Amino acid sequence: MKRTILLFVSICFLLTGHAQVKGYTPTSENLKARSEFRDSRFGIFLHWGLYSIFGQGEWYMTNANINHKEYAKVSEAFYPHRFDASQWVSAIKASGAKYICFTSRHHEGFSMWNTQQSGYNVMNTPYGKDILRMLADECHRQDIKLHLYYSHLDWTREDYPIGRTGRGTGREGRANWPEYYAFMNRQLTELLTNYGEIGAIWFDGVWDHDNDSVPFDWQLEEQYALIHRLQPACLVGNNHHQAPVEGEDIQIFERDVPGENRAGLSGQAISQLPLETCQTMNGMWGYKVVDQNYKSTAELIRLLVRTSSKGANLLLNVGPQPDGTLPEIALNRLSEMGEWLATHGNTIYGTEAGEVVMGDSIVSTKCGNVVYLHILSDKVRQIETPFNGKVKRVVAYADKQKVEFRQHKGKLHIPEINIQPGTIDYIIEIHRK
Ligand code: GLC
Repeated sequence: MKRTILLFVSICFLLTGHAQVKGYTPTSENLKARSEFRDSRFGIFLHWGLYSIFGQGEWYMTNANINHKEYAKVSEAFYPHRFDASQWVSAIKASGAKYICFTSRHHEGFSMWNTQQSGYNVMNTPYGKDILRMLADECHRQDIKLHLYYSHLDWTREDYPIGRTGRGTGREGRANWPEYYAFMNRQLTELLTNYGEIGAIWFDGVWDHDNDSVPFDWQLEEQYALIHRLQPACLVGNNHHQAPVEGEDIQIFERDVPGENRAGLSGQAISQLPLETCQTMNGMWGYKVVDQNYKSTAELIRLLVRTSSKGANLLLNVGPQPDGTLPEIALNRLSEMGEWLATHGNTIYGTEAGEVVMGDSIVSTKCGNVVYLHILSDKVRQIETPFNGKVKRVVAYADKQKVEFRQHKGKLHIPEINIQPGTIDYIIEIHRK
């Protein structure tokens, strides 16, 4: 009897185990896209919507408790007469970024494309042109991947079940989840059918229901399956601040490099999926008129290096202005990052996380048998670090001059390091045997 029960339990286990594996198996195109994504290391996030006109950041509607009907009136002022997709894409490409993630529809609920699913979209503004069409065409023309941010939550629609945010936007609480879910899926279908190849769908907003007494069922797996059916190579990512769930292809961290949780949104375990950290250039995602607190180029480069040293990508945000241009300071940062990447890119692109790490200022990436030691402070004079494997040669990255080293009892010692004051990232190549 015991044996029969055991047999029965094992069969059940095998069956359910099998069912789990069958749930989502990424296609070979998808796996290829994942590895290209992983190698690309650097992308630019663009938060553009009606909120950009108010110039108060993309949470303005909720932060200031604005009635959605009043808020929507600003769509009559949407006229970004200086928007030029080719200028945007050229500036972004020149920064060394390999993909662009664009907000197709943010929490405010306004769609930046010609959607048939709601009148609240770019076509019904004085501008009247399909922003996404222009951007997507230009990305394809200039051969840079386009990812689309898509908000799961909506502060305007009545059918969206109100969560913990947007409680003061005047919705009357006529939630209809099946209707809203179908609406989202029809919009996603448009995005994945009418705009050519889409590199990823980047979801956000699931956390809106993380305080519910009964766990909210977002029906993600079914939605992810729809995306993969329409474009098997399209990567699915979700900024839900949790470990990835079935059907996701990348793992996202908000405002922190994986493994750190300084901003408070990234305590989740790190998975085996390709990783991405998103961060602002100044303080806010959407354009905010008083937000001039831009990180310096050195800080941004160091952030990119630290992200790469964790084996993750950096998705760095820029908030376009009401006239459709990118802020001058952001453009400067992009071009300076591009200059740096043009000469240091092979220590970033296509690399893996390196084992050598000492605080924030000494990190590493690696590629084949070369470890790139990135020294992010000009104060470092010598290094002693645990190191596996036999070192053949150590050279300075910039001029390939030999650097003296000793290896003893699992430790590598570099006794003399001379860094010019003001150097952003002093790189040493350690070649293993
Ligand atoms: C947050 C915010 C949102 C922003 C996103 C980017 O989840 O709600 O405004 O778009 O982070 O990471």
